Amino acid sequence: MLRRLVAISPPCRGNVNRMNLSALGNLSHRLKLVGTLPPKLVAAKIAKRLPWSNKRAVRIAEIVHSPKDREADRLLGFFRTQESFLVENEGWAPIDFTGRNVLEIGPGPLGGLSLMAVFRGAERVYGVEPDWVDDVLTDPAIEDAYLRPHHNVLSAAFGNLMDYATFRTRLGERLKIDAVGLSDATPGFAADIVLSNSCLEHIGDLPDALSALVDFTADDARHMHLVNFGNHRDREAPFATIYEMPPDQYRLKYGAHINLLRASDVFAASASAGLGLSMAIVDQPVEKAEAVDLHPYWRDNYEMDDLAVRTALYFTPMSNETESPIP
Ligand SMILES: C[S@@+](CC[C@H](N)C(=O)[O-])C[C@H]1O[C@@H](n2cnc3c(N)ncnc32)[C@H](O)[C@@H]1O
Repeated sequence: MLRRLVAISPPCRGNVNRMNLSALGNLSHRLKLVGTLPPKLVAAKIAKRLPWSNKRAVRIAEIVHSPKDREADRLLGFFRTQESFLVENEGWAPIDFTGRNVLEIGPGPLGGLSLMAVFRGAERVYGVEPDWVDDVLTDPAIEDAYLRPHHNVLSAAFGNLMDYATFRTRLGERLKIDAVGLSDATPGFAADIVLSNSCLEHIGDLPDALSALVDFTADDARHMHLVNFGNHRDREAPFATIYEMPPDQYRLKYGAHINLLRASDVFAASASAGLGLSMAIVDQPVEKAEAVDLHPYWRDNYEMDDLAVRTALYFTPMSNETESPIP
């Protein structure tokens, strides 16, 4: 079911001067997570934290040993599912990348959807990814583990738009990813298309970052952002731990991996930034939110409809001019 939510004031942030306690509080949580990962991936993650480690070598080991990162069709699958959802429910026309300037927020370690944008004929593609390591895509191990299989997946989905050698050359010429956050982006163009998948919930200064985004976005830009409001740990109980305590306490215990804004907050931030986005609720398992013993912070500041949104899409509503030809 689709429903628009009214904007509710963003939660207050409270005391953030307790970082040392936060690190300690996080330790047991992190140790539990380690138990779920392949041992070679754990070794790469430990090496990453050593000050003398070679960043690029560690990143490559991380990717090669991460079944999730190496899945060649994972992000394309998300993108297509999201577009289909908007086509069915919101009269969306699929995005035409030809000749467009594209900005991706938080593409992840392998350049995310930006590779698809280059494959589909985008003119320039720019990504902001604080965790980005340069030259990863041209490493022979990554070419074998990801780039070639990803090219095969793109060719199967969109046709033989370019051979592998051309794809590789185009990535070098047209794709740039900076290791910065959205607030520090310098794309050098006004973006026609702005994409993100499961990223906005990780941006601590989201309202400011969205205001910055307006400065390098074309007035008629098309946006599609999938935001996941769950705890990113437990699919069966996505709101457990979050709603059991106020945000400050959550950050102490689990770190600041998510900003804890709710669906209405993200909508309000995008509206006050002037992005003109609509929100479509994708998944709203009310019974899973009701199953949590709500701390008064959440009960007093939010409606249950809002608390129950697990995933939502923020997108540019269609108008007749939206897919105008390139001038
Ligand atoms: C859950 S990951 C998603 C990565 C990728 N989009 C995917 O779906 O696999 C969230 C990403 O957001 C990035 N991120 C965190 N803060 C950011 C910021 N301020 N600006 C841009 N990206 C950010 C993280 O480094 C991380 O790669």
